[in-house]
Amino acid sequence: MAELKSPQTSELIPQTTMSDSLTVIDNRTGKKYELPIQDGTIRAMDLRQIKSGADDFGLMTYDPAFMNTANCRSSITYIDGDNGILLYRGYPIEELAERSDYLETAYLIIFGELPTSTQLQAWTRDITLHTMLHENVKTFMQGFQYDAHPMGIFLSTVGALSTVNRDAKFIFDKSSRLRQMQRLIAKVPSIAAYAYRHSIGRPYIYPDNDLSFTGNFLNMLFSMPAEKYHPNPVLARALDVLFILHADHEQNCSTSTMRNIGSSHVDPYSALAGASAALWGPLHGGANEAVLRMLNEIGSVSRVPDFIKRVQSGEGKDRLMGFGHRVYKSYDPRAKVIKKIADLVFTVTGKNPLLDIALELERIALEDDYFVSRKLYPNVDFYSGLIYQAMGFPVEMFPVLFAIGRTAGWIAQWEEMLLDPEQKIARPRQIYTGAARRAYVPREHRQ
Ligand code: CMC
Repeated sequence: MAELKSPQTSELIPQTTMSDSLTVIDNRTGKKYELPIQDGTIRAMDLRQIKSGADDFGLMTYDPAFMNTANCRSSITYIDGDNGILLYRGYPIEELAERSDYLETAYLIIFGELPTSTQLQAWTRDITLHTMLHENVKTFMQGFQYDAHPMGIFLSTVGALSTVNRDAKFIFDKSSRLRQMQRLIAKVPSIAAYAYRHSIGRPYIYPDNDLSFTGNFLNMLFSMPAEKYHPNPVLARALDVLFILHADHEQNCSTSTMRNIGSSHVDPYSALAGASAALWGPLHGGANEAVLRMLNEIGSVSRVPDFIKRVQSGEGKDRLMGFGHRVYKSYDPRAKVIKKIADLVFTVTGKNPLLDIALELERIALEDDYFVSRKLYPNVDFYSGLIYQAMGFPVEMFPVLFAIGRTAGWIAQWEEMLLDPEQKIARPRQIYTGAARRAYVPREHRQ
């Protein structure tokens, strides 16, 4: 980038220019630089030319938690956090939740277009044919402690799939990539169901190819070998919509983990195990589990105001779980859809007794200055846990359910990263704050 002359005082006053560039004046040197602006961003590498002297490394940006840094170009998911808009490949989430099913949405997210009927049929068939787990994987899962958390079992087993699918390392072979993607979408429900059955000491149920994606999952979870199980269509559809709502959410913690791990060119199973681990935390996919624990702890509608006060005071470091989002500064559009599904599910299962506490929390928080001024609204996890619980899932399964839906997004983002010629192995910089170089102290001289 061309270096310009030293600034005059008048040049320091912001002036309207028509150029798509940013003028930066380095007050250490008086030098002035013009940096191109593209898509509302400047390139961090353009700052490297800004040096205080010949030995200077060059200017960097400091952005803990990536609050204002775009790490990639992506054409998968668009979020307008101020206006509560979420689009997958241009299609509004509300419409997909209303008119599509999860496998169709996964196809859209991965391939960029909604499938024709023939494409959807072939895709559904391909996924269905991959639902079985290798018997060795089943044996592997049997080794977990009887009370192991299903998310721990899930992420370990997903990682272990790389040892079974040895072709997974051929990540630049298009057909191998597609095969792994189909396997992952197909096998994550089987792993999730096996993990659940293991935790309750029931025998594993093999996939049933006559059932839908979600119907088969419910069957593997809840049926008994001696009896025919008929998945309730309302519950199967509700779960399917929940998978759609969770299918992608651009560069969140787990997705950027998937991209980061994948950027080392490891196989997708290993990367997805890492993404699942990132998802597990209570600030991310573990939030719906945390919401349920919070609602149980509050215990009754009458205790809601006290809890809200505790959150506001910061006492006990309580947060209103299921509220707030890094990107949404208005009502999360997924939460709106979920609220509607909850009503539908409760007509089958009966109302979740914790619903009244949740509704009261939402009512008070939406009127309360603490939450309003910080733009804290219900997110996708506020009501999803109530639905899962009403459907019979234990709280430990909640992040696992999130991971099943998110698998489509993770693998689409992984492939997009691999094929992006601008991407390299992810390697952030740091500001070193430790000791300067010093002489080694022999053990006998240490104090
Ligand atoms: N309850 C109370 N206060 C909150 C909450 C909350 N849930 N969320 C944020 N705040 C406050 C926070 O204390 C801070 O206040 P102050 O400015 O006085 O210090 C302010 O709001 C900004 O919060 P932040 O932590 O800087 O915001 P963030 O963007 O780093 O965090 C978040 C986003 C989702 C981690 C956070 O809102 C949170 O912890 N929410 C509860 C957990 C949760 O529901 N997570 C699920 C997210 S949606 C599913 C997903 O995508 O994974």
